[in-house]
Amino acid sequence: MNVLANTAEFQHLVPVAQPVQGASRISIIGLGYVGAVSAACLSSLGHQVVGVDVDPAKAGMIAEGRSPIHEQNLETLLSKGVDNDLISATTDIVDAVLNTDVTFVSVGTPTSSDGGCDFTYIRSAARAIGEGLSRKKDYHVVVMRCSVPPASTLSVMVPEIEKASGKTMGDDFGICFNPEFLREGTAVADFNDPPKTVIGANDWFAAEIVADIYRPIDANPIMTTIEVAEMVKYVDNVWHATKVCFANEVGRVCKPLGVDSHAVMDIFVEDTKLNLSPYYLKPGFAYGGSCLPKEVRAVVHLAQQMGVETPLFSSLAETNEQQIEAAVDMVRKSGAKRVGFLGLAFKAGTDDLRESPVLEVMNRLIESGCEVVAYDEAISTGTRVANQFDYVRNVCPHLELTVAELPKFLRPSGFHVIDESDVVVVSQNTPEIRQIIAARLERAQIIDLVRLFTTTPTFSCYEGIGW
Ligand SMILES: NC(=O)c1ccc[n+]([C@@H]2O[C@H](COP(=O)([O-])OP(=O)(O)OC[C@H]3O[C@@H](n4cnc5c(N)ncnc54)[C@H](O)[C@@H]3O)[C@@H](O)[C@H]2O)c1
Repeated sequence: MNVLANTAEFQHLVPVAQPVQGASRISIIGLGYVGAVSAACLSSLGHQVVGVDVDPAKAGMIAEGRSPIHEQNLETLLSKGVDNDLISATTDIVDAVLNTDVTFVSVGTPTSSDGGCDFTYIRSAARAIGEGLSRKKDYHVVVMRCSVPPASTLSVMVPEIEKASGKTMGDDFGICFNPEFLREGTAVADFNDPPKTVIGANDWFAAEIVADIYRPIDANPIMTTIEVAEMVKYVDNVWHATKVCFANEVGRVCKPLGVDSHAVMDIFVEDTKLNLSPYYLKPGFAYGGSCLPKEVRAVVHLAQQMGVETPLFSSLAETNEQQIEAAVDMVRKSGAKRVGFLGLAFKAGTDDLRESPVLEVMNRLIESGCEVVAYDEAISTGTRVANQFDYVRNVCPHLELTVAELPKFLRPSGFHVIDESDVVVVSQNTPEIRQIIAARLERAQIIDLVRLFTTTPTFSCYEGIGW
């Protein structure tokens, strides 16, 4: 069975065999919020479920069709499952593994004393799963459902299972990471209408077995690598927390102004083009231009004047500055003395250079002794750069010299820039720039701030800022 290195390879793999479709025998280790809901809901799809918990009280309640937690509709489903002989429960993991084909792991992953992830429960569950597998001949799939840092499934759980079982992942058993997205309080409804189903796997056979289990509620699960699936879960929750804090800071600024924060946010959420959309949500370079930096400063200033604290809003300029410094560091580490820039304005298709973060990078490199050249299809020696600079004089006085000298750095094409540079910083993702880079690939050293290619090039002369 193939064990794959990354998403691109995974997507191109042809399945080696199609697993049998239909009801599965599933053991669920850990009968807390996730495990109890999974047990009830998977049984409602017709699967045979064996629940396992180290806590005999929880296992006992599930075995009797009673819910160990307060959750709408859960007890009804559990008791139906038990009545239909689809749910049983035990404290014996080994026995549960022996009598099922797939094991879901939903034990707790509390915060460890250093603020990281405590793997204690995962390790002990993995050892018991391994013991079960050591007594089993048939292929088995282990599905990790706990929220864990990327790479933990393969570096923490799998070695424990392999050690305890003497078996090999990919040959004797398969591993998937299937994050849980339920919201407590509406968990059963969320199971039946999930925001998405994500299956991280390194072999198709295991992935298809898990996909089949979910088929009745999601015919098109998202297939990816285990590490991406692990990170998706963390990123989702950080995003949700960001949304909560963002909205609360809006409220804190609006209240003393006498502006109705809900009226503001009702309109805000109606914008699904720029606000609630994929726009601005891909890792890349710093924000800039004539609006974002100015307006962030203005809102922070407004809050300060009223004595309102907005640590999230206030942190934006700092994290943006770190992205600019990260690009400067990448160039410095390359050791290049002649630095080329493909793209000068804060984004493609405009000649607006006000608060362009590329100018900041250029300025810092000039100050540290680098020679620079640049190309931007929207900017020529005739661009009225001095007028633009007047607008940002109060916030960018340090850029005055670089702006004044800009015409002499400009080159008539991207090829001139590449040919005169030791390293090329790409800050715009246009068809023209992609063509220029493709024509010089493996000859030019590239620092990519915009993710030029879907699949990251692997040659040593290419580096991306966040990938
Ligand atoms: N609660 C949620 O809303 C939610 C949502 C998505 C993801 N998650 C993640 O899912 C995982 C489980 O969360 P939870 O809230 O259900 O946890 P929980 O603490 O409610 O339940 C975990 C259960 O695992 C049992 N357990 C611990 N070690 C065991 C072992 N070796 N064998 C058998 N049982 C064992 C515990 O007794 C407990 O009943 C965590 O990683 C969590 O971050 C939780």
